[in-house]
Amino acid sequence: MGNQSKFAEKVVASYNPKGAFIFLGAGLLDGEVIAAAKVNLALKMMNRHGLIAGATGTGKTRTLQLIAEQLSDAGVPVFLLDVKGDLSGLHQPGESNPALVERGEALEWPFVPSGFPVELFSLSGKVGNPMRLTVEDFGPVMLGRILELNDTQTGVLAAVFKYADDTKLPLVDFADLKKLISYLTDGPGAAEIKDSYGRISSSTVGTILRKLVALEQQGVSDIFGEKEFDINDLFGRVDGRGVISLLNISDIQDQPILFSTFLLSLLAQLFKSLPEVGDLDKPKLVFFFEEAHLLFKDAPKAFLIQVEQIVRLIRSKGVGVFFCTQAPTDIPESVLGQLGNRVQHALRAFTPNDAEALRKTVKTYPHSEFYEIDRVLTSLGTGQALITVL
Ligand SMILES: Nc1ncnc2c1ncn2[C@@H]1O[C@H](COP(=O)(O)OP(=O)(O)OP(=O)(O)O)[C@@H](O)[C@H]1O
Ligand SMILES: [Mg+2]
Repeated sequence: MGNQSKFAEKVVASYNPKGAFIFLGAGLLDGEVIAAAKVNLALKMMNRHGLIAGATGTGKTRTLQLIAEQLSDAGVPVFLLDVKGDLSGLHQPGESNPALVERGEALEWPFVPSGFPVELFSLSGKVGNPMRLTVEDFGPVMLGRILELNDTQTGVLAAVFKYADDTKLPLVDFADLKKLISYLTDGPGAAEIKDSYGRISSSTVGTILRKLVALEQQGVSDIFGEKEFDINDLFGRVDGRGVISLLNISDIQDQPILFSTFLLSLLAQLFKSLPEVGDLDKPKLVFFFEEAHLLFKDAPKAFLIQVEQIVRLIRSKGVGVFFCTQAPTDIPESVLGQLGNRVQHALRAFTPNDAEALRKTVKTYPHSEFYEIDRVLTSLGTGQALITVL
């Protein structure tokens, strides 16, 4: 048997699941597209999460779009971040061109332009439907993260939230939180909280209040308030197609910790509100987390533990999460190990840091009789990727 047919046979054996699937492309062997070696991801495995990685400009966002569109076609709602404003055109059919037709022929998968149902959101409500959250829903760990609090300070914040919860006090916006903090430090509440929750140091409280005010001055507090957004709004369908909810973050792009933490908090709420479903034929929702490195960079341990837990547990609620970032090493091991579907675009090896990331990435791939992983990873063209499924 020729090398090509052996290759096609192996790919078909591993990447052509029974049942509905997402088409990713066809295998490449020695620079040649092997159309018979179709690479598909099982739709029912999309809640096993995924990773889309690669250096800048290698095709991550296009891959994400390819997957998102097919999910929508299959009736699965999708949540995406629109970081660069390059996805809002999804509702219009794309335009065909000779290169796309030629690519379609090589893959034996014709390009058919199509538009998708799209819903636009934004945190502030200025560039899309508002996605406002209450302070209470956000919780102390995530609020601590955007306030850049240390563990001790976050602990104090957690005690304040716990007090509000125990006494059924609503914490809707920053004003509520500030009022409660003052009550518990200067007001009659000071003695009360000291007995049941431990003493709250006035310098710690001072720091928390100061940071709250700083965020308010940056306009960030506007995203906390009476909810105008229901998590169920993310599950829409139009004519059988899943709605693609796009969160435009152009208005808060200079606040990376804010939007990455906000996304995590959305996941946490999905987790809280959805019932256990076990294994489904297709996921209920797939959530794409672009710029995922921002979520993890310099994150405190309590926060990382929370991310890991949410990612692990949300699977059984029928929600798949795809992280999109430059290098797999941007993602902590405990989360990376849970990402079953991996699309790895080209990596660079310019700097010692790149080389280190490359070396670590290579180690996470199984041996292949057709490829030398390190060579392939640095020589992939735009839109080409190394794909593995667990
Ligand atoms: N499969 C593909 N076939 C042809 N062109 C592609 C393909 N994938 C991506 N491109 C082109 O390559 C360019 C970069 O793609 P894309 O924006 O998806 O990269 P990216 O990895 O998301 O980059 P960044 O890290 O900057 O966000 C775009 O102009 C896109 O049209
Ligand atoms: Mg991109």
